[in-house]
Amino acid sequence: MAKFLHLSSTQSTNDDAYALARQGAEHGFGVLADIQLAGKGRLGKAWYSTPGTGLTCSIIVRPKLPFIEFPKLTLTAGLALCKALEGLFPALPFGLKWPNDLYCRGRKCGGILVEAAPPTHAGKEGFAVVGIGLNVNALLEDFAPELQCRATSLRILSGVSQDIESLYHRVHGSLLKCLGRHEDLGFADILREWRRRDILLGKTMKWLTSGRKVIVAQALGPDDNGQLLARDASGKVHEILSGDVQLAE
Ligand code: BTN
Repeated sequence: MAKFLHLSSTQSTNDDAYALARQGAEHGFGVLADIQLAGKGRLGKAWYSTPGTGLTCSIIVRPKLPFIEFPKLTLTAGLALCKALEGLFPALPFGLKWPNDLYCRGRKCGGILVEAAPPTHAGKEGFAVVGIGLNVNALLEDFAPELQCRATSLRILSGVSQDIESLYHRVHGSLLKCLGRHEDLGFADILREWRRRDILLGKTMKWLTSGRKVIVAQALGPDDNGQLLARDASGKVHEILSGDVQLAE
């Protein structure tokens, strides 16, 4: 069984895993925490996990890929998380929202934050930390009031509680398997499956650009590099590298 560290409480498992990776922790090593006090989300947002009820973990990967390919790992990890849960709950309609969100029945159930370190001049390989936050055993009232209309958990969706460590091993296995496919068969193989789970495809969405401009456009799905394409009302196709995208109401 792959090695991991299970902490009762920490600031951010991504920060812990990053520090351990810098000290040489191996590919596949994971950090899992029951309580995370300063969880980080994408775009500098915070990730709040209800204490003791979620899967809050970070897995170190040392991909056999050029560093320029590392941004694609967010999609690879999202697919891995989705597939792990589909195996456990075949009847639940999980989907992926570009670039890093796991959804089910219109609500967010989990998210991915990948943080990467490039190879060094001293010859050290690059690595990435795949942070996964998944709402597992929370009830609706466990979420902050402002999240109660947008969030869900595996327990709310399925009616059953899960053992967090078992879930961690399932997700860990799926991540390393998807990463192996990415390395051996290429990103196109990941994208083929990712696109089938794309919840934005064809929908009208609002894109908040990094320059804080709001663009309303139809989502065309990720291109071959994993960047989201979207067509605005004038017919212009935008290639979205970053920024926030939301379904338009
Ligand atoms: C997002 O939805 O924006 C991504 C959320 C990722 C949260 C996870 S929880 C475990 C790991 N540690 C962190 O600080 N963040 C990630």
